[in-house]
Amino acid sequence: MTFERACSLDEVPTDEALAVTLGRYDVAIARDGDEVFALENTCSHAEVALSEGEVANCQIECWLHGSMFDLRTGKPTNLPATEPVATFPVDVRGTDVYVDTETTLNGVTPA
Ligand code: FES
Repeated sequence: MTFERACSLDEVPTDEALAVTLGRYDVAIARDGDEVFALENTCSHAEVALSEGEVANCQIECWLHGSMFDLRTGKPTNLPATEPVATFPVDVRGTDVYVDTETTLNGVTPA
């Protein structure tokens, strides 16, 4: 695994995601309490940034058509999206958030 520093923990809002570019991927960093998650930052329904939506109850909402994606699994929990987005391993080291974009947790290949 190759973890890269993505941001500091206090840069990640509690109610929305932080967009970062790591390697060749756009990644949305989001949190649910003390847990931090990294998802491919493109909705699986159309090519819009998930980081522009709201985060609540361990889900991120796509602002365009309202699909919610579970931060833990990347799976949509309502229509119109039906396909999951890639989720990346996260390692919080002190106050820094590290993400590995060379592998995915859910087996989804990022676009
Ligand atoms: S573009 Fe995200 S739900 Fe349609």
